[in-house]
Amino acid sequence: MLIKTDHDGFIHPVSSEITSEKVYRDRRALIKLMAGGAAGAALTGWAGREAMAQAISKPGKHAALVGGKSAVAGAVTMDKVTEYKDASSYNNYYEFGTDKADPARNAGTLVTRPWTVSIEGLVKQPKTYGIEELLKLSAQEERIYRMRCVEGWSMVIPWVGYSLAELIKKVEPLGSAKYVEFVTLADPKTMPFVGSRVLDWPYVEALRLDEAMNPLTLLTFGMYGEVLPNQNGAPVRLVVPWKYGFKSGKSIVKIRFTDKEPRTAWNKAAAQEYGFYSNVNPNVDHPRWSQATERRIGEDGLFAKKRKTLMFNGYESQVAQLYADMDLKKLF
Ligand code: MTE
Repeated sequence: MLIKTDHDGFIHPVSSEITSEKVYRDRRALIKLMAGGAAGAALTGWAGREAMAQAISKPGKHAALVGGKSAVAGAVTMDKVTEYKDASSYNNYYEFGTDKADPARNAGTLVTRPWTVSIEGLVKQPKTYGIEELLKLSAQEERIYRMRCVEGWSMVIPWVGYSLAELIKKVEPLGSAKYVEFVTLADPKTMPFVGSRVLDWPYVEALRLDEAMNPLTLLTFGMYGEVLPNQNGAPVRLVVPWKYGFKSGKSIVKIRFTDKEPRTAWNKAAAQEYGFYSNVNPNVDHPRWSQATERRIGEDGLFAKKRKTLMFNGYESQVAQLYADMDLKKLF
């Protein structure tokens, strides 16, 4: 397989190289199926996939995106896509337990309809969006992003959603807004580990406004051409592919614009280990382990080599300018 890599280690896409032909064709077929979906269907199970598909860009457009040269298209990786069964069964979602298998086992209790996301704080247009309205706010696309967890494993996942910037533009942040906070659901009735002492619930994450506006930052509703499984953060989560996975909050209920850097769940739990920025950086180790290499889920086995972790997870050309004047060792 031919893989072209430029100076920053970013791997440029050619659609047939994205993944195995079979996985690629199956996904294409599914998206096509979804694109023919019935209007107004409830967003659960098959009916839900069909309803969501109305908001997903047509296969032709997607194909252009994969092979294209736009800023966002450059974000599509050429790595082999992780198997769906791995991406949906090896998870971090501490509200449902701390073992990797817990979320898939326990998240069936999560109630994802009705669902609202309230936009609050320093914006001209505060509003509570119903999930259906949010789904249709902008055309959805499939984007294949690497996900690198701070713990040293990674996956390559075809997410479905649109740039968070589309929503941000609609709600018009005030000039004083500098940060965006993402508050996720903390419902002790449906989430068995909310109340445990691991974290200070709710799970809160945040970005600087310019990071949130970067076109790579994806407001995500689906993966592998389907609605998000509960364990992956249904019905709506963030995916910030150049940062460690914990920055990508799941099951978001509130997005708040602020002028001060928000406290985030992992930063509150262990500030010296989990910084506000948490950009993927092979040169800045976690205090308890190296971040120079990673294990790609699905490549385990006795002889599987660890991969070198890429600066900004391979998205350097799209995001390095956000940190031009910063000491990334201090502001990790
Ligand atoms: N969001 C919430 N609400 N709760 C969590 O425990 N875990 C984070 C992030 N988002 C987490 C969360 C971590 S540590 C990672 S690595 C990613 O979700 C994992 O996403 P995935 O399970 O879809 O791969």
